[in-house]
Amino acid sequence: MSKKEISLATVKEHNKPEDLWVIIEDKVYDVTKFQNEHPGGEDSLIEVAGRDGTREFLMAGHSSEAREIMVKYYLGDLAASDRKKKCPVSDPITDQVDATNASNEPAATKQCCILH
Ligand code: HEM
Repeated sequence: MSKKEISLATVKEHNKPEDLWVIIEDKVYDVTKFQNEHPGGEDSLIEVAGRDGTREFLMAGHSSEAREIMVKYYLGDLAASDRKKKCPVSDPITDQVDATNASNEPAATKQCCILH
């Protein structure tokens, strides 16, 4: 159920409390109407308005219920050309492939993820 692709430049235009988009895991959400209901407060959403809030979202440790709510606010995917490599927590496989070729260290020892 893939929707349209949205560029980073477009997301950046929606960086105000009254018009608030956020990118989480390469997906774009319009959370303008969700701000007042957000259990984590409006401020945490305003802080990441118009940008990538993946890191903050993951740090807050959202439940599967939160993930279900997100679906309602999903607008589309971030344009492929604007996606970049994120922290290893969200993308361990690519990170290992890309980052370890030049090193003698086994990939597993380079992982900084505290969740596993
Ligand atoms: C569409 C996006 C989001 C949805 C639907 C959402 C939903 C929720 C829900 C339902 C909770 C209650 C706890 C839980 O069930 O996990 C929560 C807590 C929280 N959220 Fe979000 N959230 C979103 C985005 C974000 C973002 C981008 C941030 C940070 C920039 C954030 C920060 C927090 C924090 C800090 C809490 C913890 C509140 C506490 O434990 O006192 N959330 N969120």
